[in-house]
Amino acid sequence: MRYLHQSETLMIQTTLSIIKPDGTQRNLIGKIVARFEEEGLEVAAMQMRHLSRREAEGFYAEHKARSFFDELVTYMISAPVVVMALRGENAVDHNRQLMGATNPKEAAEGTIRKLFGQDIGMNTVHGSDSPAAAEREVGYFFPKTAIF
Ligand code: CMP
Repeated sequence: MRYLHQSETLMIQTTLSIIKPDGTQRNLIGKIVARFEEEGLEVAAMQMRHLSRREAEGFYAEHKARSFFDELVTYMISAPVVVMALRGENAVDHNRQLMGATNPKEAAEGTIRKLFGQDIGMNTVHGSDSPAAAEREVGYFFPKTAIF
């Protein structure tokens, strides 16, 4: 057992992860979930679902004014996705590190987007980018009673 130094805080967080259509359609669900689990993130909630246009638009509402918004929404409803709540120490940043940069071309070696991403749209996974976003995004898909 390791004792925490006074300056260290153990931050257990819950963050949202989505395996996007290019991940579900290329049979990558197991590999991606295994990666999270091997790296110490726990699946606290999980559901496969085919998003409606309205659900995808609401989820990505912060990007509404962006030129890629329609393309993003159309892509996210093109096939089922897997939505997950992941829990662990500093889960928001940890998940972002495991995913790599948004654009797979810029993602670090060994990250999920580097390994599997095809382009900036078909980048295989989504992850909350801050604790505030995580709270909103987890709540968008899962009621508190569905998080274990
Ligand atoms: P994600 O983490 O799901 O958050 C918003 C998504 O918009 C992002 O991943 C990308 O897949 C997608 N996207 C598509 N085009 C662009 C773009 N030009 N710049 C940034 N994000 C983009």
